[in-house]
Amino acid sequence: MHSVCLRKLLSGRKNKIKSKLAFLLRSGVSAVRRSALSRGTRDVLTEYGSGWSSYRETLASSDTLEQWLCIENLDEREDWFYVDGELTYRRFNSSNFYRQTLAQTLRSQLATAESITEYGCGIGRNLLYLKKLFPNLRCYGYELTPDGVDIARQAAAKFALDIEYAQLDYVFDPPEKFVFPVTDAAFTMFSLEQLPTGCDIALGNILSHVRYGSIHLEPIPEYYPKTLRGMIARLDHRKAGYLGGFPAAVERQNLKTVSRQRATSAHNPLMFPSVIVLHK
Ligand SMILES: C[S@@+](CC[C@H](N)C(=O)[O-])C[C@H]1O[C@@H](n2cnc3c(N)ncnc32)[C@H](O)[C@@H]1O
Repeated sequence: MHSVCLRKLLSGRKNKIKSKLAFLLRSGVSAVRRSALSRGTRDVLTEYGSGWSSYRETLASSDTLEQWLCIENLDEREDWFYVDGELTYRRFNSSNFYRQTLAQTLRSQLATAESITEYGCGIGRNLLYLKKLFPNLRCYGYELTPDGVDIARQAAAKFALDIEYAQLDYVFDPPEKFVFPVTDAAFTMFSLEQLPTGCDIALGNILSHVRYGSIHLEPIPEYYPKTLRGMIARLDHRKAGYLGGFPAAVERQNLKTVSRQRATSAHNPLMFPSVIVLHK
């Protein structure tokens, strides 16, 4: 009886290892095959303009904030994920994980912040989450795509949360388009990701509109591990035309302290997002 159980256990483990290796092999092949994109503002506008506008109906049919913050396939689905340090196939709500990480980081590292701005807020849901959690926090969101801004405003009104949103390209727009007041804190979540170049300008703009510091939940390939998955992930990141030069840009910012750690989970197993806090 014992040996039957042991055999079952070992074969279960073997199958798990086999399917992880198969996943890595498939990912490696598709990273090699994918054509390289030299990402620019136009690409981001095309991808996210239509992408965000497809959530108008979802907003209309969301009766509660909880429903709006947990959209099937966008926030939660069954797939390959990196969860608690392990590559695994399962159901996972990655948005919830990132938002909780953001809130914990804000609480622990910028505890006195009374106001916050998100740069590249998409349809504005991270700010809805923060405002619900910290009702006294004054919240502002900038977003490149007019559709994103429009949906974010509608959602804030629908769920009666006092948040302001405005359209802005935080890399290329002139100073007068930064219409919100300087806030205590700022953050980006998978938005600097979209900048293969221009990270220096983006960080300079964000930090010049913030009093204490900023939080960045972003994939920084320079911090990826030197494992097989880490190497495939670097290649995939480069081919996708994602963020480059973040560590060098941070060094040029004249900051008091910089802290960073790798997130323990990720929505994309070919990404190792970092949580970076820049203190002015
Ligand atoms: C992957 S989405 C993340 C959205 C949001 N931060 C979230 O966590 O749901 C990246 C967003 O950054 C925005 N973005 C990219 N470059 C930008 C720029 N230069 N200025 C403003 N927004 C930008 C995109 O339009 C998109 O909505």
